Amino acid sequence: MKSPRILVTGAAGFVGSHTVDQLLSRGCRVMGVDDLSTGRLINLRNATNSPRFRFVRADITGPSTLKDLCESFRPDAIIHLAGLVSVVRAQEEPGLNYRLNVHSTQLVAEAARSHGVKRIVFASSAAVYGDHPDLPLAESIFPQPISLYGTAKRASEELLQGYATAYGMETVCLRYFNIFGPRQDPRSPYSGVISIFAEKYSAGEPVTVFGDGGQTRDFISVFDVARANAIAATRPVATPTICNICTGQPRRLLSILDVFRSTHPEAPEPNFAEPRAGEIRHSAGNPERALERLGFRAEVDFAAGLRAFIEETGPATRDSAHAELVAIG
Ligand SMILES: NC(=O)c1ccc[n+]([C@@H]2O[C@H](COP(=O)([O-])OP(=O)(O)OC[C@H]3O[C@@H](n4cnc5c(N)ncnc54)[C@H](O)[C@@H]3O)[C@@H](O)[C@H]2O)c1
Repeated sequence: MKSPRILVTGAAGFVGSHTVDQLLSRGCRVMGVDDLSTGRLINLRNATNSPRFRFVRADITGPSTLKDLCESFRPDAIIHLAGLVSVVRAQEEPGLNYRLNVHSTQLVAEAARSHGVKRIVFASSAAVYGDHPDLPLAESIFPQPISLYGTAKRASEELLQGYATAYGMETVCLRYFNIFGPRQDPRSPYSGVISIFAEKYSAGEPVTVFGDGGQTRDFISVFDVARANAIAATRPVATPTICNICTGQPRRLLSILDVFRSTHPEAPEPNFAEPRAGEIRHSAGNPERALERLGFRAEVDFAAGLRAFIEETGPATRDSAHAELVAIG
């Protein structure tokens, strides 16, 4: 059988590089494109050993970049992950947010249309739900984003639905919840809380908890997200569709903090600061539609995933880590 050919935008980023690894492990031929604005080549160190992988350093918002890549690579599907990930920066620079999180999607859709690429998988976000009180969040809820980032993700979803209706293209929008795992850039202040905790604890520095730590999030391992992307790009799926990619199991920030304290007993006590304005207190997704439509279910056990991540990031007393993790799992 012919190997699927997949073009991945944002390939050198956190989610992108794991997605590339996952696709290669499934026998796909992969072209990755990234301008390395936040991504890093080192994230692709495994992929670059594969003869089935090619990397192109380019800005996908260049006028003909995506069309040229489709022309030369002839992909069966595009997984569109490149974007502006910082919610705060998107708010401060709405023009950049529009270019990277909406216009780039239009360019992907147009390149796909003009080169007969049937399937587009898009990295959407739980941010499209805004601060909706009905938990767990299901796709049937009317999206009411409260940030420009969430608005841009929603606009891209609508645009892709439009291309599906107008041109019969297959579009799959995946609303990721809070992703954690190796290669997330902890230097960014807007990075996931788990990667920031991991960096601080391994450096012996105090972490800051905004609010009382009672906030909850639906944390999903990047390995599961990469698997969802690969399924959405390569399996038969009834499209167009929008699916949450989540576990359905909210975790309290304080319980995650307890794990880090137990694995790093010498670390300084955390600081508690005023809650951040506009921060959503509770979030959890409903994973049923992804199971129904994609056959996807999160498989990485949270406790084991967090333990593996902590061990990879820095020194830890492993036995106590295990005990605590089992306790919160
Ligand atoms: N990390 C999360 O928890 C999360 C949650 C929901 C949605 N998402 C979405 O998933 C996608 C991937 O996020 P991530 O966490 O891997 O972020 P990331 O910053 O690690 O990855 C984004 C990648 O896109 C690249 N990029 C940005 N602009 C580009 C351009 N113009 N041309 C080419 N490459 C460009 C960056 O260099 C980077 O490698 C994003 O669209 C993000 O909005 C992430």
